[in-house]
Amino acid sequence: MAEHRKVYLNGEFVSEQDARISIFDSAVMFGDMVFEMTRVYNHEPFRLRHHLERLYASLKVTEIDPEMSIDEMEEATLKTIEVNKECFPKGLDFQIMHNVSRGPLPNYVRLFPNGIKPTVTINCWPLIWHLGPHAHEYETGIHLVITPQQSVPARFLDPKVKNRSRLYYQIANLQAEKFEKNASALLTDENGFITEGTGNNFFLIKDGELFTPEGRNILRGVTRGAVIELADELGIPCHETNLEPYDLANADEAFITSTTIAIMPATKFNGMEIGDGKVGPMVKSLTDAFSEMVGVDIVAQAKEYMEEAGVSI
Ligand SMILES: Cc1ncc(COP(=O)(O)O)c(C=O)c1O
Repeated sequence: MAEHRKVYLNGEFVSEQDARISIFDSAVMFGDMVFEMTRVYNHEPFRLRHHLERLYASLKVTEIDPEMSIDEMEEATLKTIEVNKECFPKGLDFQIMHNVSRGPLPNYVRLFPNGIKPTVTINCWPLIWHLGPHAHEYETGIHLVITPQQSVPARFLDPKVKNRSRLYYQIANLQAEKFEKNASALLTDENGFITEGTGNNFFLIKDGELFTPEGRNILRGVTRGAVIELADELGIPCHETNLEPYDLANADEAFITSTTIAIMPATKFNGMEIGDGKVGPMVKSLTDAFSEMVGVDIVAQAKEYMEEAGVSI
Protein backbone atom coordinates (compact mmCIF):
# COMPACT_ATOMS: atom_id res chain seq x y z
CA MET A 1 0.00 0.00 0.00
CA ALA A 2 2.73 2.44 1.06
CA GLU A 3 4.57 2.18 -2.26
CA HIS A 4 1.61 3.64 -4.10
CA ARG A 5 0.72 6.63 -1.96
CA LYS A 6 1.66 9.96 -3.47
CA VAL A 7 2.36 13.23 -1.71
CA TYR A 8 1.69 16.70 -3.07
CA LEU A 9 5.03 18.48 -2.73
CA ASN A 10 5.28 22.02 -4.06
CA GLY A 11 2.94 21.48 -6.99
CA GLU A 12 4.07 17.96 -7.92
CA PHE A 13 3.12 14.47 -6.85
CA VAL A 14 5.98 12.34 -5.58
CA SER A 15 5.99 8.96 -3.90
CA GLU A 16 5.68 9.06 -0.13
CA GLN A 17 9.23 7.72 0.34
CA ASP A 18 10.64 10.51 -1.84
CA ALA A 19 8.70 13.33 -0.17
CA ARG A 20 11.54 15.20 1.55
CA ILE A 21 12.28 18.74 2.60
CA SER A 22 15.67 20.43 2.90
CA ILE A 23 17.61 20.41 6.18
CA PHE A 24 17.88 24.18 5.54
CA ASP A 25 14.11 24.62 5.52
CA SER A 26 12.84 27.15 8.03
CA ALA A 27 10.62 24.35 9.40
CA VAL A 28 13.70 22.36 10.44
CA MET A 29 15.72 25.37 11.57
CA PHE A 30 12.99 27.14 13.58
CA GLY A 31 9.97 24.82 13.77
CA ASP A 32 8.66 27.55 11.47
CA MET A 33 5.80 25.64 9.90
CA VAL A 34 2.03 25.60 10.23
CA PHE A 35 -0.14 22.61 9.54
CA GLU A 36 -3.59 21.08 9.47
CA MET A 37 -5.01 17.67 10.05
CA THR A 38 -8.33 16.81 8.45
CA ARG A 39 -9.89 13.37 8.27
CA VAL A 40 -12.40 11.64 6.04
CA TYR A 41 -15.47 9.68 7.08
CA ASN A 42 -16.51 7.18 4.41
CA HIS A 43 -13.88 8.87 2.20
CA GLU A 44 -15.63 12.28 2.56
CA PRO A 45 -13.44 15.00 4.09
CA PHE A 46 -15.01 16.29 7.31
CA ARG A 47 -15.19 20.10 7.43
CA LEU A 48 -12.26 20.52 5.02
CA ARG A 49 -13.06 24.19 4.48
CA HIS A 50 -12.98 24.84 8.27
CA HIS A 51 -9.52 23.26 8.40
CA LEU A 52 -8.30 25.27 5.42
CA GLU A 53 -9.66 28.48 6.94
CA ARG A 54 -7.76 27.72 10.13
CA LEU A 55 -4.65 26.95 8.04
CA TYR A 56 -4.93 30.32 6.31
CA ALA A 57 -5.47 32.06 9.66
CA SER A 58 -2.25 30.40 10.93
CA LEU A 59 -0.43 31.47 7.74
CA LYS A 60 -1.62 35.05 8.19
CA VAL A 61 -0.42 35.31 11.79
CA THR A 62 2.97 33.77 10.98
CA GLU A 63 3.30 35.81 7.75
CA ILE A 64 4.01 32.72 5.67
CA ASP A 65 2.89 33.19 2.07
CA PRO A 66 2.01 29.78 0.56
CA GLU A 67 1.82 31.42 -2.90
CA MET A 68 -1.56 29.81 -3.48
CA SER A 69 -5.07 30.88 -2.57
CA ILE A 70 -7.32 28.94 -0.23
CA ASP A 71 -9.34 27.79 -3.27
CA GLU A 72 -6.16 26.53 -4.94
CA MET A 73 -5.21 24.76 -1.71
CA GLU A 74 -8.62 23.11 -1.63
CA GLU A 75 -8.24 22.06 -5.25
CA ALA A 76 -4.77 20.62 -4.55
CA THR A 77 -6.20 18.75 -1.56
CA LEU A 78 -9.03 17.20 -3.58
CA LYS A 79 -6.50 16.27 -6.28
CA THR A 80 -4.29 14.60 -3.64
CA ILE A 81 -7.28 12.55 -2.50
CA GLU A 82 -8.08 11.65 -6.10
CA VAL A 83 -4.49 10.62 -6.88
CA ASN A 84 -4.46 8.34 -3.83
CA LYS A 85 -7.93 6.88 -4.13
CA GLU A 86 -6.75 3.41 -5.22
CA CYS A 87 -4.76 3.17 -1.98
CA PHE A 88 -7.87 3.42 0.17
CA PRO A 89 -10.41 0.68 -0.44
CA LYS A 90 -13.93 1.11 0.89
CA GLY A 91 -13.96 1.13 4.68
CA LEU A 92 -10.41 2.40 4.97
CA ASP A 93 -10.57 6.04 6.01
CA PHE A 94 -7.57 8.34 6.12
CA GLN A 95 -6.27 11.62 7.44
CA ILE A 96 -5.17 14.52 5.24
CA MET A 97 -2.16 16.46 6.47
CA HIS A 98 -1.15 19.90 5.23
CA ASN A 99 2.30 21.24 6.14
CA VAL A 100 3.36 24.72 5.02
CA SER A 101 6.63 26.51 5.77
CA ARG A 102 8.39 29.64 4.54
CA GLY A 103 10.86 27.37 2.71
CA PRO A 104 14.67 27.24 2.94
CA LEU A 105 16.41 30.07 4.81
CA PRO A 106 17.83 32.83 2.58
CA ASN A 107 21.43 32.14 3.78
CA TYR A 108 21.34 28.89 1.80
CA VAL A 109 19.85 30.32 -1.40
CA ARG A 110 22.84 29.19 -3.51
CA LEU A 111 21.66 25.61 -3.00
CA PHE A 112 18.30 26.51 -4.60
CA PRO A 113 18.94 27.83 -8.12
CA ASN A 114 15.23 28.46 -8.73
CA GLY A 115 15.04 30.71 -5.70
CA ILE A 116 13.40 30.29 -2.35
CA LYS A 117 9.84 29.07 -2.40
CA PRO A 118 7.50 28.13 0.43
CA THR A 119 7.30 24.44 1.20
CA VAL A 120 3.76 23.07 0.75
CA THR A 121 2.98 19.40 1.29
CA ILE A 122 -0.33 17.53 1.39
CA ASN A 123 -0.57 13.83 2.11
CA CYS A 124 -3.10 11.12 2.92
CA TRP A 125 -2.33 8.51 5.57
CA PRO A 126 -4.49 5.55 6.66
CA LEU A 127 -6.10 5.95 10.07
CA ILE A 128 -5.62 2.36 11.15
CA TRP A 129 -2.47 3.07 13.16
CA HIS A 130 -3.90 6.20 14.77
CA LEU A 131 -7.17 4.58 15.78
CA GLY A 132 -6.53 0.84 16.07
CA PRO A 133 -4.24 1.00 19.12
CA HIS A 134 -6.77 3.23 20.93
CA ALA A 135 -9.94 1.29 20.11
CA HIS A 136 -10.31 -0.25 23.58
CA GLU A 137 -10.05 3.20 25.19
CA TYR A 138 -13.47 4.18 23.82
CA GLU A 139 -14.76 1.58 26.30
CA THR A 140 -12.30 1.90 29.18
CA GLY A 141 -11.63 5.64 28.91
CA ILE A 142 -8.18 7.22 29.07
CA HIS A 143 -6.12 8.47 32.00
CA LEU A 144 -5.47 12.23 31.97
CA VAL A 145 -2.42 13.54 33.79
CA ILE A 146 -1.75 17.19 34.53
CA THR A 147 1.89 17.68 33.61
CA PRO A 148 4.50 20.01 35.13
CA GLN A 149 5.02 21.24 31.54
CA GLN A 150 2.41 23.95 31.01
CA SER A 151 0.92 25.52 27.90
CA VAL A 152 2.80 28.42 26.38
CA PRO A 153 0.70 31.54 26.97
CA ALA A 154 -0.90 32.95 23.84
CA ARG A 155 1.07 36.18 24.23
CA PHE A 156 4.32 34.26 23.65
CA LEU A 157 3.31 31.73 21.00
CA ASP A 158 -0.36 31.66 20.17
CA PRO A 159 -1.69 28.07 20.31
CA LYS A 160 -4.57 29.15 18.07
CA VAL A 161 -1.91 29.02 15.35
CA LYS A 162 -1.54 25.33 14.55
CA ASN A 163 2.22 25.28 14.36
CA ARG A 164 5.06 22.76 14.41
CA SER A 165 6.99 24.42 17.28
CA ARG A 166 5.72 21.63 19.52
CA LEU A 167 8.66 20.78 21.76
CA TYR A 168 6.67 21.64 24.87
CA TYR A 169 3.91 19.23 23.87
CA GLN A 170 6.48 16.50 23.41
CA ILE A 171 7.95 17.17 26.87
CA ALA A 172 4.42 17.03 28.35
CA ASN A 173 3.82 13.67 26.62
CA LEU A 174 7.03 12.25 28.10
CA GLN A 175 6.04 13.48 31.56
CA ALA A 176 2.57 11.91 31.30
CA GLU A 177 4.10 8.59 30.17
CA LYS A 178 6.38 8.61 33.21
CA PHE A 179 3.28 8.86 35.40
CA GLU A 180 1.69 5.93 33.60
CA LYS A 181 2.41 4.38 30.21
CA ASN A 182 -0.43 5.39 27.83
CA ALA A 183 -1.55 8.26 30.08
CA SER A 184 -2.52 11.39 28.17
CA ALA A 185 -1.08 14.81 29.04
CA LEU A 186 -3.44 17.57 30.12
CA LEU A 187 -1.90 21.02 30.25
CA THR A 188 -2.66 24.09 32.34
CA ASP A 189 -1.94 27.77 31.83
CA GLU A 190 0.18 29.97 34.07
CA ASN A 191 -2.84 30.53 36.37
CA GLY A 192 -3.40 26.80 36.74
CA PHE A 193 -6.50 26.70 34.54
CA ILE A 194 -6.85 23.65 32.29
CA THR A 195 -6.06 24.44 28.65
CA GLU A 196 -5.91 21.36 26.40
CA GLY A 197 -4.09 18.13 25.67
CA THR A 198 -1.03 17.93 23.43
CA GLY A 199 -3.21 17.21 20.40
CA ASN A 200 -6.77 17.53 21.66
CA ASN A 201 -9.31 19.72 23.41
CA PHE A 202 -10.85 19.03 26.79
CA PHE A 203 -14.44 18.83 28.07
CA LEU A 204 -15.98 17.88 31.40
CA ILE A 205 -19.56 17.15 32.41
CA LYS A 206 -21.09 18.18 35.71
CA ASP A 207 -24.77 17.89 36.64
CA GLY A 208 -25.82 17.30 33.02
CA GLU A 209 -23.98 20.35 31.63
CA LEU A 210 -20.90 20.56 29.45
CA PHE A 211 -17.85 22.70 30.31
CA THR A 212 -14.79 23.42 28.19
CA PRO A 213 -11.90 25.89 28.54
CA GLU A 214 -12.52 29.15 26.75
CA GLY A 215 -10.81 29.63 23.40
CA ARG A 216 -7.99 31.86 24.67
CA ASN A 217 -4.93 29.67 25.41
CA ILE A 218 -5.86 26.71 23.23
CA LEU A 219 -6.08 25.55 19.65
CA ARG A 220 -9.73 26.05 18.77
CA GLY A 221 -10.37 22.54 17.53
CA VAL A 222 -12.70 21.84 14.64
CA THR A 223 -14.00 18.82 16.58
CA ARG A 224 -14.48 21.00 19.67
CA GLY A 225 -16.62 23.31 17.52
CA ALA A 226 -18.63 20.36 16.20
CA VAL A 227 -19.24 19.05 19.74
CA ILE A 228 -20.40 22.47 20.94
CA GLU A 229 -22.86 22.53 18.00
CA LEU A 230 -24.04 18.99 18.77
CA ALA A 231 -24.58 19.86 22.43
CA ASP A 232 -26.71 22.78 21.32
CA GLU A 233 -28.78 20.52 19.06
CA LEU A 234 -29.20 18.00 21.89
CA GLY A 235 -30.25 20.76 24.31
CA ILE A 236 -27.21 20.26 26.55
CA PRO A 237 -25.99 23.58 28.01
CA CYS A 238 -22.32 24.14 27.15
CA HIS A 239 -20.12 26.68 28.95
CA GLU A 240 -16.75 27.95 27.70
CA THR A 241 -15.10 28.93 30.95
CA ASN A 242 -12.05 28.68 33.22
CA LEU A 243 -11.69 25.18 34.65
CA GLU A 244 -9.34 24.03 37.38
CA PRO A 245 -8.00 20.54 38.16
CA TYR A 246 -10.37 20.75 41.17
CA ASP A 247 -13.32 20.89 38.74
CA LEU A 248 -12.08 17.80 36.95
CA ALA A 249 -11.58 15.96 40.25
CA ASN A 250 -15.26 16.61 40.98
CA ALA A 251 -16.65 16.09 37.47
CA ASP A 252 -19.17 13.37 36.60
CA GLU A 253 -17.60 12.63 33.21
CA ALA A 254 -14.85 13.98 30.97
CA PHE A 255 -13.58 13.52 27.42
CA ILE A 256 -11.16 14.88 24.86
CA THR A 257 -11.76 15.70 21.20
CA SER A 258 -9.59 15.76 18.10
CA THR A 259 -9.90 15.19 14.38
CA THR A 260 -8.61 11.63 14.34
CA ILE A 261 -10.21 10.20 17.50
CA ALA A 262 -13.36 12.42 17.45
CA ILE A 263 -14.58 11.95 21.07
CA MET A 264 -12.53 9.92 23.54
CA PRO A 265 -13.79 9.41 27.10
CA ALA A 266 -11.49 10.00 30.09
CA THR A 267 -12.19 7.95 33.22
CA LYS A 268 -9.09 8.68 35.33
CA PHE A 269 -7.31 11.84 36.31
CA ASN A 270 -3.96 11.99 38.13
CA GLY A 271 -4.51 8.46 39.40
CA MET A 272 -8.07 9.00 40.69
CA GLU A 273 -11.39 8.04 39.15
CA ILE A 274 -13.51 10.58 37.28
CA GLY A 275 -17.10 10.09 38.46
CA ASP A 276 -17.55 6.36 38.98
CA GLY A 277 -14.51 5.60 36.84
CA LYS A 278 -16.62 4.29 33.94
CA VAL A 279 -17.56 5.79 30.59
CA GLY A 280 -20.68 7.79 31.41
CA PRO A 281 -24.06 8.18 29.68
CA MET A 282 -23.49 11.70 28.40
CA VAL A 283 -20.18 10.89 26.70
CA LYS A 284 -21.95 7.89 25.16
CA SER A 285 -24.83 9.95 23.81
CA LEU A 286 -22.48 12.63 22.42
CA THR A 287 -20.40 9.88 20.77
CA ASP A 288 -23.56 8.36 19.24
CA ALA A 289 -24.70 11.79 18.00
CA PHE A 290 -21.24 12.43 16.53
CA SER A 291 -21.26 9.03 14.79
CA GLU A 292 -24.66 9.80 13.36
CA MET A 293 -23.52 13.21 12.13
CA VAL A 294 -20.49 11.81 10.28
CA GLY A 295 -22.21 8.63 9.11
CA VAL A 296 -19.62 6.32 10.67
CA ASP A 297 -19.77 4.48 14.00
CA ILE A 298 -16.49 5.85 15.32
CA VAL A 299 -16.06 3.21 18.03
CA ALA A 300 -16.82 0.30 15.68
CA GLN A 301 -14.43 1.73 13.09
CA ALA A 302 -11.60 1.96 15.63
CA LYS A 303 -12.25 -1.67 16.62
CA GLU A 304 -12.06 -2.77 12.99
CA TYR A 305 -8.76 -0.95 12.65
CA MET A 306 -7.47 -2.63 15.78
CA GLU A 307 -7.56 -5.95 13.95
CA GLU A 308 -6.10 -4.47 10.77
CA ALA A 309 -3.29 -2.78 12.68
CA GLY A 310 -2.49 -6.15 14.29
CA VAL A 311 -3.02 -4.74 17.76
CA SER A 312 -3.75 -7.20 20.54
CA ILE A 313 -4.80 -5.78 23.88
C1 LIG B 1 -2.89 21.28 20.57
C2 LIG B 1 -4.15 20.80 19.93
N1 LIG B 1 -5.33 21.09 20.51
C3 LIG B 1 -6.49 20.65 19.98
C4 LIG B 1 -6.51 19.87 18.83
C5 LIG B 1 -7.83 19.38 18.27
O1 LIG B 1 -8.15 20.09 17.10
P1 LIG B 1 -9.06 19.44 15.94
O2 LIG B 1 -10.33 19.04 16.56
O3 LIG B 1 -9.22 20.54 14.96
O4 LIG B 1 -8.29 18.28 15.42
C6 LIG B 1 -5.30 19.56 18.20
C7 LIG B 1 -5.31 18.74 16.98
O5 LIG B 1 -4.30 18.35 16.48
C8 LIG B 1 -4.10 20.03 18.76
O6 LIG B 1 -2.93 19.76 18.18
